[in-house]
This record gives sequence, C-alpha cells and structure tokens, in this order.
Amino acid sequence: MCGIVGGIAERSITNILIEGLKRLEYRGYDSAGLALINAGQVLRERRVGKVINLAEAVETSHISGSLGIAHTRWATHGKPTEENAHPHISGNVAVVHNGIIENYQELKDDLEALGYVFTSQTDTEVVAHLVNDALKSTPSLLEAVRQVVPQLKGAYALGIVHTDHPNELITVREGSPLVIGVGIGENFISSDQLALLPITNRFMYLEEGDIARLTRTSIEVFANGNRVERPVKELDATVSNASKGEYKHYMLKEIYEQPEAIQQTISQALNGNALRPDFLKNAEVDFSKIQQIQIIACGTSYHAGMIAKYWFEQLIDLPCQVEIASEFRYRSPVIVGNTLYVCISQSGETADTLAALRDTQKRAVAKGLDVVTLTICNVATSSMVRETNYSLLTLAGPEIGVASTKAFTTQLAALMLLVLKIGQVKNSISTEQVEQITSELWHLPKVILNTLQHNDSILRLAELFTEKQHCLFLGRGTNFPIALEGALKLKEISYIHAEGYAAGELKHGPLALVDNEMPVVILAPQDDMLDKLKSNMEEVQARGGELFVFADVNSGIKGKDRQHVVHVPNVSAVLSPIVYSVPVQLLSYHVAVLRGTDVDQPRNLAKSVTVE
Ligand code: AGP
Repeated sequence: MCGIVGGIAERSITNILIEGLKRLEYRGYDSAGLALINAGQVLRERRVGKVINLAEAVETSHISGSLGIAHTRWATHGKPTEENAHPHISGNVAVVHNGIIENYQELKDDLEALGYVFTSQTDTEVVAHLVNDALKSTPSLLEAVRQVVPQLKGAYALGIVHTDHPNELITVREGSPLVIGVGIGENFISSDQLALLPITNRFMYLEEGDIARLTRTSIEVFANGNRVERPVKELDATVSNASKGEYKHYMLKEIYEQPEAIQQTISQALNGNALRPDFLKNAEVDFSKIQQIQIIACGTSYHAGMIAKYWFEQLIDLPCQVEIASEFRYRSPVIVGNTLYVCISQSGETADTLAALRDTQKRAVAKGLDVVTLTICNVATSSMVRETNYSLLTLAGPEIGVASTKAFTTQLAALMLLVLKIGQVKNSISTEQVEQITSELWHLPKVILNTLQHNDSILRLAELFTEKQHCLFLGRGTNFPIALEGALKLKEISYIHAEGYAAGELKHGPLALVDNEMPVVILAPQDDMLDKLKSNMEEVQARGGELFVFADVNSGIKGKDRQHVVHVPNVSAVLSPIVYSVPVQLLSYHVAVLRGTDVDQPRNLAKSVTVE
C-alpha cells in the first residue's frame, strides 16, 4: 500500500528519501516519486515501477534539496502512470498522500469551476489545489492546511511542502498511519517507522486528526486547533533486523525465524510452565466477567482467529466467534456486553479491522455496554494497540514479506497464551493442563526447527507444482484453517489458483474438481480425526487425484504412487496447526520461486492494507 517519506534537514535529504522509499517497497506499490524544494523551486521526479527507476532518474537529473517529500503509490484512483504518481503539485505546493479522499469528485468539481486544471485521475490532486487555493486567504502554510482538512472526507495521511516555505514541512494524520522521526537538527515523517530506522530511533506517533508543523529544530502538533504534546519514544529496533541477511528472500528468512520468534513471544508470558503474574497484568477483573469472545481480523490473521475459536471452546469452554473485519464492520452486528473483542493484526493498521474495532467501541458506549477490547499485534506502536484496552504483542520482529509467516505462527502462540490466561482467571482449565500446554509451547521452537530440516524434500514436491493451474488443500479440526492458510499462501505468491477445505466437505462439492491434474495437499497431524482424514485421502486417490501429504511421523501414512509424503515431527494435536503452517509456507515459497514470481512483493498486494 502507499508509503510516505519526507524530511527537513541542513543536509541534502535526496538519498534519505530514496532509501526510505526502498525500505517501504515491501508494502507493495506500482510507482514512486519525490519532490524537493530548492532555491524557490519544486524539483520533482516520478516513475512507474520500482523505486530503482526513480533513483536512476534522480541521479540523472541531479536534483537535490534539504526539504522534500517522497511517495510509493499503490493505485486506487487512476491507473499506475507517471501522471498519477505522487507528489502532486498545484502552483508552488507539493503533496503526498496515503489513503482515500472519499469526497474527491465533489471537491474536484468545485475546484474545476474555480479554474483549477487537473493533470491526474487521483483523489490526491484535490488536496494540492485546495491548499493552493487556501493560501489566497492566508500567508501561513499551516493555516491553509488547517482550512483544508475539515473539507476532506475519508482516511488520509499527508505530507505538504511549498516553495515559499523552505523551512517547514506540514503533515496530517487522519485514519492513515503517520509517524515523525525525531533527529538532531533535522526531522522526518513516514507512514512506517521502518523507513526511518537508518536515521533515527526516536519517534513521535501522531494521533488521529493531528496536524504537525516540522522545522529542522522543532515539531509543533495541533489537535482540534490547539497545540498538544505528543511523547517521543525510543525504539530498540535496529536496522539489521530488517535486512535479508544470507537469505534470498525476506519470506524465507522469516520462515526460518519462526523458532526464535515463537520463543520470544512465549517468554514474555511464561515463567517455567506457569503464566507469569505480570502477564496481562490488571486484566484479571475484566477477564473474569467475560462470557464470550468475538475475534475480528482479515486474511492470515483471520485464519489465526479461526484456530483460536477451536482452542477457546475446546480448552476453556468459552464461546468464541470469528469474523472477517470487512464483513463485521458493515453488517450492524449485535454488540453484546461482557464480551472480549479481540483484534488480530500483524500491522495493527489494517483499515477494516481498525474500523470494526472503532465501530464496536462506539456502539458499546451508545448501548451502555461493558465490552473489553484486546489486540494481538506485531507492532507495539500501532493504532490498534493504542486503541484497545489490552494488547498482547507477537515478538516476531519486522515482517517484510507480504506473505505473512512468522507473524501468523506467533499470533497462534499469543492466542494460546490468551486462552490459558482467560482459562486460569475463570477457573475453567486445570493447573495440570496449563502446565502440559506450556511445556509443549516451550518445545515448539525445536519441533519447528526439525520441521524446517525437511526443506529439501518440500522443494522436490514444489517442483511438481510449477505447471499446475489449481490446487486443493484439505485439513480437519484446527488444521482446517491451515488448509485455508496454505491455499492463501500459494495463491498470493505463486498465482496458482488454490482453495482450502475442511476435508469433510470434500464430497459436498470440491470432489468434482479432482482428476489427474489436481494436486491435493493434505495436513495429517496425529489427532482424533486422522482415520477420517485417511478416508478422505482414499476418496481423492480413487478419482485419480495426486496427494501431497504433510503427515505426522507416527501417522502410518507412507509414500506410494501419486502419494508424496513429507513426515512432520510428532507434536501434540492441540499445537499441531502451528507446526503444520511451516511446510505449507515452504511449499508456497518454493513453488513461487520456481515460477519466477516476485515472492516478497507479489503483484497487486500490499503488506499493510490501510485502505478498505
Ligand atoms: C497474508 O499473507 C496476507 N498478506 C494478508 O492476508 C494479511 O494477513 C491481511 O491483510 C491482514 O493484515 P494484518 O494482519 O496486518 O491485519
């Protein structure tokens, strides 16, 4: 999704902007551009395609400046062309924008009536013209922006510069993430702090509705017209933990980081085989009242929620519902008191999940209901973490690959910790059971490491997929969501059409698709459903389907003609979905590499989906 970088300094910031954009490439985009203010001029370059194209153009044109804004665009309004790439200019104003201006057409009509000529199909260009127009009635750039903001409907983050204001950069946050990177004698903005990590680890997080004016040495933030203070936080994230290291792709690196990521995530909550007393401290009172769970999430995070539903209901007898945020937010769900609303999100900025959360909070207040909210998230500073009562962090480190891997398995680990915590508070799980599961959690990193040893065998399976057009993934119980997740992974990075099914559903439709050409991936852990799953495998084989089975080493499932088996180390049934995620991730990864796709930045997708 779109990315913003901007800055004001003594030195030239051209390379800082380009490097910042490169660090945002993982978010997904289709064009890039920058504008620098230098000697009373706006110097702009924009290119379709990768940031490297923009970098080459900037090198050729030799433009530089110590005040500027830059952008990677993910097309929403208008095709990915140079004309539609940001920054957009009106007179002496240049603007970059993330998000969507919903009432842009209406504003555009008014501006055209005033004589403004539009050179792009974007919604963003209205902002540039509006600021330009507002400057007719005020000499202050900040004041002009303040006049424009109430006219904009939608979600947006903005970076704005002007040739007559070479000592200031104006930024706005309204529904789209924006962070200020605080330097010494220089300040920066970005939609993602990752872009600024090489230059600072001190960040100021704007609140929704904030407008800020940055100079080289000062940052003034305004909310509802009043000057406000926003704290500066120091991050311990380093530049290196966001680099590819020895791996060919971020995705592969992130798959291999899972043992450590899970270890980190569980360490924050466990003391030996017991839950630490300070884990989710002060939540006891709220959790004791909880009578049901409602999980809201999108994509892979939604799949994590589906697995948690099995856990909440089977392990601690607590009703749990899971819903895709983009549906939940628009269907006027009944908000019920004594419910724990759990948002699951890698980024903590996903537009639909955030909107569903805010809508729930608003409706609960309107009905006078007592609801508790909690976020499971990989970004400690995200909007969701800040806006929920409690948060449980997945300590996976930055996840750059668009296909979520370590964020997903750490979400599962975190969800299990939450299940145990609530179960303990509500006395619905025994100490022995807690100890059993926590000792298995501690053992998980080793089991995953052993599963990763099968990488070469999985690569050989992947070689059989390169010419395939379609694929089915089947699982039962907690591995049904892993079948969905495996299918999502395969389609998003290899572009092979894939569907996940609960294996019991096979004969209710998808079996009609099975023939010699249809690969069927099976998830076969050692659990109560294994015999039933074996029958489903027979049904596929009887129709000529080719089976690719990830099976427990003790399952008794062996390789044979048109049945390829990779044996997964034995793991308890309850934690098996965490382990079985790994082979499906590796399979998708290798198929994508063999098919030559852009594994880390698959076409049309974005890492952080900050527009709906
Ligand atoms: C996963 O591989 C996807 N790229 C996607 O489904 C993702 O999980 C979804 O967009 C939700 O993102 P979030 O976890 O940041 O909210």
